[in-house]
Amino acid sequence: MSDYPHLLAPLQLGDMALANRVLMAPMTRSRIEHDDLPGPLQVEYYSQRAGAGAIISEGVHPSRNGQGYCRTPGIYSQQQVAAWSEVTDAVHAKGGKIICQIMHCGRVGHADNKFADAEFVAPSAVKCNAEIYTEQGMLPMPTPRALRSDELPGIIAEHATAASNAIAAGFDGVELHCTSGYLMAQFLSTGSNQRDDHYGGSAENRCRMVVETLSAMVAAVGAGRVGLRICPGNPFNDLHDDNPQETFAVLLGQVDKLALAYLHVIRMDSVGFDNIALARAHFSGPIIANDSFKAAEAEQRIAAGELAAVSFGRSFVANPDLVERLDSGAALSRVDFKTLYTPGPAGYTDYPAAG
Ligand SMILES: Cc1cc2nc3c(=O)[nH]c(=O)nc-3n(C[C@H](O)[C@H](O)[C@H](O)COP(=O)(O)O)c2cc1C
Repeated sequence: MSDYPHLLAPLQLGDMALANRVLMAPMTRSRIEHDDLPGPLQVEYYSQRAGAGAIISEGVHPSRNGQGYCRTPGIYSQQQVAAWSEVTDAVHAKGGKIICQIMHCGRVGHADNKFADAEFVAPSAVKCNAEIYTEQGMLPMPTPRALRSDELPGIIAEHATAASNAIAAGFDGVELHCTSGYLMAQFLSTGSNQRDDHYGGSAENRCRMVVETLSAMVAAVGAGRVGLRICPGNPFNDLHDDNPQETFAVLLGQVDKLALAYLHVIRMDSVGFDNIALARAHFSGPIIANDSFKAAEAEQRIAAGELAAVSFGRSFVANPDLVERLDSGAALSRVDFKTLYTPGPAGYTDYPAAG
């Protein structure tokens, strides 16, 4: 008998039937070799990890403007749909599930990381005071262009099209990235959102872009295939909100009505409040929790009925067969931090299974 009977038990998440509750957290790995198209290296990397209850992909941009980091993939062209379908077929062939994380970086990025015709767009022309990795090393970010009100329907539509494209490419679901300082989080937060239209000012207004984007994604692919990732209070990428507890209470009150497949919450003790408890208070569907979980704690909190599942990031980098190792009690390998974002197979597809 395994030490983790609840963690390894099946789970129905919206329309998705998962074999277990050990999910792979979304991780940008900057391994894309040609334009922003996945290739054979991604087929191998993701299929090696198909034992996860579901893999949540690296952040995938819904448009050229949405790209922020170098060597990252998109999901806005038919060529990308065809390329991703090789990845999803390989994961399904091994009995796994895979969810596409849709990530528009907004003001976060550098011109060296994007196509020459791509812009930096954001709720307001407020620069992210942080540096970002480029092929030249760490560099400061530019001041973005504030989106006009008449451009917002186009941004919402590109997320809905990205969701449809993901499902056409064989993904089992989509997850909207709404933390870590990227576009959706920029709309939510008082520091980066200084708009004076219906999308800025009050918490209701700052939440509007996220709620309308999720609603469009739900209309495109169905609520049972849409999840949302949050981390209330997260200051990453120079994000500041005067009152994240109020903002997220308002946001989740509206999101709850959409009956999404799940809410994915990154816990963060340093924010000064229990952000998983905040999520639980305002969201009635399944919660996936993340960040520095050990299997024993995940097992205990799932058994207690607090969480539906837990996602693991770095453990899945170093242990492609993480689920089998938890089941058998095999030791876990450690991640090599030096190769998290470097090009090529080293530190990507060459971590061995326990055997
Ligand atoms: C290399 C790396 C890349 C990441 N990229 C993303 C990303 O694209 N989208 C996202 O939501 N989180 C991203 N994260 C955060 C992880 O999903 C996760 O929250 C973090 O690793 C903590 O979980 P862990 O303690 O199980 O590793 C990344 C983390 C790492 C280590």
